[in-house]
Amino acid sequence: MTTGLYSPDDFHAAANEFPEPFRLLIRESVGSTNDEIRLLAQAGAADGLILLAEQQTAGRGRRGAAWFSPAGESLAFSILVRPTASKALWPRLALAAGVAVAEAVETFGLQAGIKWPNDVWIRQRKAAGILVEAGPDFVVVGIGLNVNTTSFPPEVAEIATSLKNETSQSFSRAAVLGAILSKFARRRQEIDEDFGSLIAAVQQRCVLTGYRVKLSTSTGEQIGWVEGISSAGELLLRTEAGLDRLIQADEIRII
Ligand code: BTN
Repeated sequence: MTTGLYSPDDFHAAANEFPEPFRLLIRESVGSTNDEIRLLAQAGAADGLILLAEQQTAGRGRRGAAWFSPAGESLAFSILVRPTASKALWPRLALAAGVAVAEAVETFGLQAGIKWPNDVWIRQRKAAGILVEAGPDFVVVGIGLNVNTTSFPPEVAEIATSLKNETSQSFSRAAVLGAILSKFARRRQEIDEDFGSLIAAVQQRCVLTGYRVKLSTSTGEQIGWVEGISSAGELLLRTEAGLDRLIQADEIRII
């Protein structure tokens, strides 16, 4: 059985109900949807374009990692955003996207957590990753969500999961995409209008709070206890030297 309103891959039916201004472009196979939509943005595409690929041959994760998304099983798409907010606030779109994906997953009855800044976890494993990249007058929000994937390459098999692995049910990818966009339509507004609500949604789902972690930043490796997320969206890390407020970190591991 497939859970969701639409037949599993009926993206066009789902797209009819996307909130404004989202509209969908589907490609069978691309290198990376982030790279592809950047070209469309540079050619003048308007805010709200979604580029979804059935298959990515060079999907990218953060820190130059490859992103695994087997054809037809997962969601791999990018959203073109032309923010009205000032440039300084654009990084907040990464938080907005993480919250939107977590909330969408929750509408299907699962509990989702956020591993700061925006990995979406289900029961201690990563189900979704988000890669946000800015251009001169646009932002690309790339989202990869493991929907019906059941087997992962050895390098991520221990840490990855999917909606199907967690429930033994298949999900309509079209319905899941629709749910993410409904949530993102609201959360993207909050980067300047109501950042308090956005941060509260991150804080509420933060899977690192209360845990001891090891992480690397531009200034080196750090170990400490995560006290939570600040009202400005920083990770609050208690180390031997005191309380650190991190705006960025590379790999974060719970130890
Ligand atoms: C991460 O957790 O490292 C981020 C993964 C982001 C993957 C998505 S899939 C759609 C979009 N296109 C890409 O090449 N990457 C993002």
